[in-house]
Amino acid sequence: MSETHEPEPRIEVHEDRDDLAVAVAGELVARLVDAQADGGVPQIALTGGSVADAVHRELTRLTEESETGGEVDWSRVVIWWGDERFVEPASPDRNERQAREAFLDQVDVDPAHVHPMPSTESAESAEAGAAAYAEELRTQGSGAFEIVMLGLGPDAHVASLFPGYPQLDLDDVAVAVHDSPKPPPERITLTLPCLNRARSVWFVVSGDDKADAVALAMADGTDVHDAPAAGVSGQEETIWFLDRAAASRL
Ligand code: 6PG
Repeated sequence: MSETHEPEPRIEVHEDRDDLAVAVAGELVARLVDAQADGGVPQIALTGGSVADAVHRELTRLTEESETGGEVDWSRVVIWWGDERFVEPASPDRNERQAREAFLDQVDVDPAHVHPMPSTESAESAEAGAAAYAEELRTQGSGAFEIVMLGLGPDAHVASLFPGYPQLDLDDVAVAVHDSPKPPPERITLTLPCLNRARSVWFVVSGDDKADAVALAMADGTDVHDAPAAGVSGQEETIWFLDRAAASRL
């Protein structure tokens, strides 16, 4: 997957998960404020998982306490997701629900700018949902996300791209996943080519149980089929935001 445009990834190590979430949320706010300064309406992709949840809560906290004049205008940020669990919309398994509770419902987003992936209520199948989301991205997306945030699984999965799974070789925009090794089994995910059109890709990873996956994903020559994270990089930058434990095998 390596392409000549890829800049070297940058690694930022923070003390623990809380420090990591504070740093990532702060950096995201700074980037969005910059992108909006000249009238831009940045498009970002969120992920699920416990670290993403900590980042979302910190974004809410920053927004609530911000009196600096440098805050983000959340009504001018467009929100997408890198992957989603294909379940009922109200299910606690939904990445969307997690993000809404911790963050999107707490800040002043424009509902028309929030693009959740389809659920079992809005699509007949994960395939139909993936096709609908791809169409939504084609018609309402900017063509490239400003920033894609990704968690990392202990098996080096990102979004819902799992080691050895056929979705790694698909180049549609969004695709269905069945029999995910991490429950729930039915999912929708953006593909590697779609993620790789992003200007910035941020991996946000905490914990000792991720240290081997981080090291494998970052090692030269790692096959994307063994470590899907090895196949994702931004057009302009790739940053690995880690805590000490996640960085301990680098
Ligand atoms: C999912 C998530 C997944 C997650 C990682 C990291 O749908 O399962 O999108 O890719 O980001 O597994 O999760 P943690 O932050 O909880 O370790």
